Amino acid sequence: MIWWVLASLVLWAGRALSLDLDTSSKDSICSATSLIQGGIMDYYLGTRYGGTVGMFQPPYYWWEAGEVFGGMLENWFLCQNDTYEQMLYHAMIAQAGPHYDFMPMNQSMVEGNDDQGVWGLTIMDAVERNFTNPTEKGVPGWLAMAQGIFNEMWARWDTAHCGGGLRWQIFTWNSGYNYKNTVPNACLFQLAARLGRYTGNQTYLDVAGTVWDWLNDVGFIVLSDKANVYDGANTDDNCTDITKNEWSYNQGIVLGGLAYMYNATNGSSTWETRLTQVLGGSEAFFFKNQIMYEATCQDSGNCNNDQRSFKSIFSRMMGLTSVLAPFTASSIDPLIEASAQGAAESCSGGTDGHTCGLNWQIGKNDGMYGLGEQACALEVIQMLLVHDRPAPYSASTGGTSVGDASAGLNTSTTNVLESTLTITHKDKVGAAILTAVVLAILVGGAVWMLF
Ligand SMILES: *[C@@H]1O[C@H](CO)[C@@H](O)[C@H](O)[C@H]1NC(C)=O
Ligand SMILES: *[C@@H]1O[C@H](CO)[C@@H](O)[C@H](O)[C@H]1NC(C)=O
Ligand SMILES: *[C@@H]1O[C@H](CO)[C@@H](O)[C@H](O)[C@H]1NC(C)=O
Ligand SMILES: *[C@@H]1O[C@H](CO)[C@@H](O)[C@H](O)[C@H]1NC(C)=O
Ligand SMILES: *[C@@H]1O[C@H](CO)[C@@H](O)[C@H](O)[C@H]1NC(C)=O
Ligand SMILES: *[C@@H]1O[C@H](CO)[C@@H](O)[C@H](O)[C@H]1NC(C)=O
Ligand SMILES: *[C@@H]1O[C@H](CO)[C@@H](O)[C@H](O)[C@H]1NC(C)=O
Ligand SMILES: *[C@@H]1O[C@H](CO)[C@@H](O)[C@H](O)[C@H]1NC(C)=O
Repeated sequence: MIWWVLASLVLWAGRALSLDLDTSSKDSICSATSLIQGGIMDYYLGTRYGGTVGMFQPPYYWWEAGEVFGGMLENWFLCQNDTYEQMLYHAMIAQAGPHYDFMPMNQSMVEGNDDQGVWGLTIMDAVERNFTNPTEKGVPGWLAMAQGIFNEMWARWDTAHCGGGLRWQIFTWNSGYNYKNTVPNACLFQLAARLGRYTGNQTYLDVAGTVWDWLNDVGFIVLSDKANVYDGANTDDNCTDITKNEWSYNQGIVLGGLAYMYNATNGSSTWETRLTQVLGGSEAFFFKNQIMYEATCQDSGNCNNDQRSFKSIFSRMMGLTSVLAPFTASSIDPLIEASAQGAAESCSGGTDGHTCGLNWQIGKNDGMYGLGEQACALEVIQMLLVHDRPAPYSASTGGTSVGDASAGLNTSTTNVLESTLTITHKDKVGAAILTAVVLAILVGGAVWMLF
């Protein structure tokens, strides 16, 4: 009897707290995303004693923090809720690093061009959503930070292998340095497109065109009615042996970049065709053409922590595309609606009764949980509101962020490939120490592996 009462109490509490989504109600969408963000904050270290501002707990990498904050910043804008505004502000400033280019020294063991690029897209979101401008003395505007990231990434463009492109890694000591892949290049493409649309400066749009052309020439993007976006290839054989895995975040970042190009060029038919083709290819990430899934790994149960978060940025890009290229709305919006519904049904796990799952196709929770699952559900559900709020601002339609077209051009982190760097003695000593540390860890790690 007592057991029964307790059980029904728990059940009742669970029901009261479980995610209940009315996809046509802003209040319902925003209370659902509030609960989901509560789940995200369970993994956040910045509010814990001794924790680092702007970081999530292991095993979540630094790049994923950049991705998740992008989703939360959109929530701040779409739900007009200031609860996490200060947290986001301090997190972004704390991780910007000494040059405000999102290359903090303590991430050089893991930071690749893609990591800096994903953070760059989030900072660009701060620009276009008119997020609280930095006021501290000496801290540049979000726009200047985005321009700094762009300038540094573009300076690393490497024509010596594969006819162009960014490498996956920035630093020679990181494994993956010999791999050129879609994601950092897609980030550069999109960042250039967004800066071009925002500032009206044609130079950025030209760079976006160059990156786009290369992604096609090298065969990472293969256009057709259902365009493929592949993962990447090794520089050792000049990028001829392409790894053909397809990930929703690659498809999404390319798609979003195309939508910005389409919008920035006032609807040019060239970009419209390309956008239509890549949108056609995005079908591959919707189970039965309806509910979003990570096609390459999800149903086989093999998604790693990074891959379990990809649907979040993909959702954001689908939503923004629907706004920036209104002709796509009739095909995108029903996909977001069905996926949001499925995601909400998956948010019924855990002890709180509203922890989100990975699989949105089964009408219930699948027992998977983590930062990625929370972020994906957040982003797909909040995109139901994307048409109810203004489109991303540009400098002429309401953005107020302060820019600096030459940001990042004189920092020592700009280009580790070329000798045009302004490397000071202090930097060299620093780099030598870092290399020694890396070596020690490599050797130490190797010794450890022998045991
Ligand atoms: C704003 O978000 C917080 C935390 O997610 C939530 O508790 C609060 O109810 C939200 N406010 C409104 C007006 O929705
Ligand atoms: C890493 O560097 C950033 C920016 O320089 C700093 O805010 C952060 O506290 C550092 N993280 C750790 C774990 O020390
Ligand atoms: C490498 O690939 C690029 C682009 O496809 C091509 O232009 C270049 O000639 C190739 N280089 C070699 C050595 O094959
Ligand atoms: C964009 O298109 C509109 C409507 O066709 C036209 O009035 C406007 O001049 C165009 N602007 C640019 C910059 O091409
Ligand atoms: C660009 O985006 C705005 C905002 O959604 C939209 O009103 C406009 O029609 C778009 N431009 C084109 C050419 O579709
Ligand atoms: C952007 O933010 C600034 C500073 O807070 C504010 O004055 C301005 O009205 C905002 N613009 C829009 C379009 O909301
Ligand atoms: C346009 O962007 C380029 C590339 O960053 C920069 O060199 C140039 O100064 C910018 N032009 C203007 C007018 O801001
Ligand atoms: C770049 O150099 C200029 C001139 O020396 C300086 O004013 C500016 O602060 C520097 N920018 C950065 C990001 O270090």
